[in-house]
Formats: sequence, C-alpha cells, structure tokens
Amino acid sequence: MTSPKLVTANKFTSFNKNTAYVIPVTKKADKLVIGQTGIETSELTKIDLQSVGVSAELESMVRLPAPNGATYALVGIGTNALTKTDLRNLGAASARKLSSFKDIVLGFETSDTDETAAVLEGAALGTYAHNAYKGLTKGVEIKLQTVTVVSAHKPSAAALNQIAVIAENVNLTRNLVNMPGRDLYPESLAKAVQSAAKGSGVTVQIWAEDRLTKEGLGGILGVGQGSSRGPRLVKLEYKPKVAKKHLALVGKGITFDTGGLSLKPSISMLGMNFDMTGAASVAAATIAIAKLQLPIKVTAWLCIAENMPSSTAQRPNDVIKARNGMTIEVLNTDAEGRLVLADGLSLASEAKPDYIVDVATLTGAVQIALGNQYAGIMGDQVAVDAIKSAADEVGEMVWQLPLDRKLRSLIDSDIADIANVKMGNTAGGTIIGGLFLNEFIGNRAKGETDDIKWVHMDIAATAHNEGAPYGVIPKGATGSYVRTLVALAKQLG
Ligand code: BES
Ligand code: ZN
Ligand code: ZN
Repeated sequence: MTSPKLVTANKFTSFNKNTAYVIPVTKKADKLVIGQTGIETSELTKIDLQSVGVSAELESMVRLPAPNGATYALVGIGTNALTKTDLRNLGAASARKLSSFKDIVLGFETSDTDETAAVLEGAALGTYAHNAYKGLTKGVEIKLQTVTVVSAHKPSAAALNQIAVIAENVNLTRNLVNMPGRDLYPESLAKAVQSAAKGSGVTVQIWAEDRLTKEGLGGILGVGQGSSRGPRLVKLEYKPKVAKKHLALVGKGITFDTGGLSLKPSISMLGMNFDMTGAASVAAATIAIAKLQLPIKVTAWLCIAENMPSSTAQRPNDVIKARNGMTIEVLNTDAEGRLVLADGLSLASEAKPDYIVDVATLTGAVQIALGNQYAGIMGDQVAVDAIKSAADEVGEMVWQLPLDRKLRSLIDSDIADIANVKMGNTAGGTIIGGLFLNEFIGNRAKGETDDIKWVHMDIAATAHNEGAPYGVIPKGATGSYVRTLVALAKQLG
C-alpha cells in the first residue's frame, strides 16, 4: 500500500467529477454554519444543514452532492479554535472516510505552513488498512491517490518529504506489528528490519544465538530458550558526520508472548503478536531519522525472542545473568519483557549515550492506570521532560508515573541480585517494571551515578487499537510514538 500523493493548491478552481470536497462545519449561536474554507460553498447555503444530519461534532461526516458530479463531505470541526493536532486528526479522519475516492480536496483553513503540513500528514497517516491477510473477502480498499489541501500556506518540499518518510515508517511499524506470530518470529523480524533499513544509511547487525552467548546476554537467551525459533539481537546504527548528541533506543521485541511456563490464560494471550511493537517502533524511528538526515547519532537495540512454554523453556525460580552481570531470579516467566530489556539497556549504557529511551509493551497494568490513549513514561526527569515535549509537538499522549524508589525492595530476591516480579502483588505493576529496568542503566545496580538520561515508555495499552479507527489511529497496530521518537531526535540534534 502506498500513501497518496500530497498536494497544496493556492486556490479552489472548479469542481471535478468523482472528487470529494471536504467542507468544515462548526456552530455559531447554536446554529450550524460552514467554517472558513477556500472551497466554493454557495450551493450549500440553500440547504438546511441540520435537517440532512450534518453535525459540528469533531470528525463527523455527511456527504451531499456537489456541482459537476462531485461530492461535498461536510466534516464537523467542533467549536473551539483548531490546534495542529486537531487539524492532523481531521485530515486523517477525512482521508480515511473518503478513501474510496481517488481524489479528495480538503478545505480546512490553515494559517501557516505547519498547519497545512499537519492536515497532509494526517491524511498520509489516516489512510492505512491492514488487508494482507484477507483471502476471499475484501478488506477496506484504499483507492486514494491524491489529497489536495486548499491553502495559500504551502509546505516546502523538505516538509513534504518529511511527511512521506514519517508515514512510510509509521506504516512499516504497523505492518510488522499486525503480522501473526506464525509469520513473524525472531529471525524474520530481524531480517524484515534489515531489509527496511537498506539504503537509509543505517547499518544493521544481527546477533544470533552464538553471539548472544558470547556477549553474555542471559536475559534474551533465557526468554528465547523455550522456542524452536531462537532469539536475536539487532543493532542499528546511524552515525551522521556532524552529531553533538548520542541517542540510544532500546525496544522490546517479543514476537509472541504466551507467558512461557507461567502461561497466560487464553483470553490474555490474544493479541500477543503485538508484543514486539517496541522493537518495531525504535527500528522504524531510527530509519526515519536517518532518511531525514537528522544531525544526531542514534544506536538502536532490538531485543527479540519468542516466549514459549516447552521442555526447554526457562522455569520459575531459574536464575539468569544479564549483560551487566546482575543475576535475576525469574519468578514469573510472563514478565519477560524486562528480562530482554535488561540486556538491551546494559548494552546501550556501555557506550555512555546522552539519552536512552526504551519502548516496550511491558505491563497490562498501564492500561488500568492510564487507559488506551496514554503511554506511561518514567525515568530521569530531564529525559521524561524531553519525551513529553516531543510527544506534545506531534500530538501523541504520554503521562509520567512516579518511579518511587521505596517500591524497589519489593523485587529483592532471596537468592539472586533481583527478582523479575513481586509474586502476588499487582499494585503499581508499571512502576515496578520501571524500577527493574532502572537497574540496568549505567552502573546504577552498583549504586553508582551516571550522566545518562533515561526514560522508559510503557506502550502496552496504546500499541493496538481494538476499537474503531479515530484520528490518525487505525484499527489494529497503531504505530504510535514513532513520531515522538523522531521529534525527540529533532529536538536533541
Ligand atoms: N506482554 C505483556 C504485557 C501486556 C499485557 C501487554 C497486556 C499488552 C496487554 C507482558 O510481558 C506481561 O505479561 N506482563 C505481565 C507482568 C506481570 C507478570 C508482572 C502483566 O502485565 O501481567
Ligand atoms: Zn509476558
Ligand atoms: Zn510481553
């Protein structure tokens, strides 16, 4: 699936047959009115909008015939001033709902080139549908070829290229995450990332089991040992000539999480093919950062394994040793994300990067705490603030949870340096996950301080949308936070 061509037209000229024209609708003094738009709307003044079901509700849409065999699509824009995020969501919802047209023209008023870019970016992100596994039945067909915004504020060629690169890599994430575990396993995920990185300027190393053993990656090996499809570590590097900062990204890449011997109940196991979203997201962000030639060094570590129960699987009470030398008692094999990340964070720390961001579908608890639209973030305040501001910039939502050190003793182990869970205690599960990960940054486990600024993003509740699409979010894999990571790289670079 390719994204539609994105165009800006200075002025509306005429209605073209089979083309949809999106008209904003708002309310004034409790009456529906056509909003500011560059598109000709005189035909609409004859119509009582209320009586044909038009509404000002954000992202609502009613279609009416327009001159020349064209279609009007009246889209609600609410009653408040539109933010860049609103415009992006409106662009997305309009393009998605009109994706059976080849050409659409969006008449949202924009007051600068950034706002026009937001509408176009929305259209590019909103026109995604996952049809790869449809056989005899048809999925949602996206016929859209051109999206035009009528505005005098035309984004530069560089801005349009940035939208294309970002949409391409958000869609790369969505495509990988949507794949069933049968087809996406550690080796195939590693290879898919390698092939997506071709030509981007990112170098890719794939470490198979012999190398994992040599490097002492006991967390990734422990989680992966129950599967006939062995684990991998993928290292991505983007080193531009000029770079003041070094950003390390670490992603949880569990291609399927059965829970291992601490087996998940059937219902909780559904959707666990998306447990590699963190790895896909950091890979896609790194590729996008390289394609945009941002002046920052990025190293990404994808920690990839399949968590299966079998006679070779790790057992509860097993003790494994992570890359940094710390021994971990595995009390619950379903808390496997933190085990693979322990190695990834240790490796990332060795180069002493300025920032480490890890991205993981780590805990079901984050959904209880924050619902499905916020990623839980925690870590060093400077890094948390940096992610907050990057997420704000691109309209993605994050919420900080307190990394309360007093909870750390809950994961003391009787026999090893640390346990991976506190059995029987589900309180603050997301924070406990964060506290565990903190032990693998720099030499924090030894009580030493460092200059690394680390933030953990728990995306377990936002990686996948089980409901209807909204704004830039499709059904299924969302691809959320790839844009935040790229924005962070921009802000730091
Ligand atoms: N992959 C899951 C987290 C998850 C749960 C993601 C639900 C999306 C939806 C993770 O590996 C896991 O199983 N976590 C356990 C941790 C617990 C054993 C401390 C959980 O959340 O129950
Ligand atoms: Zn698990
Ligand atoms: Zn998991």
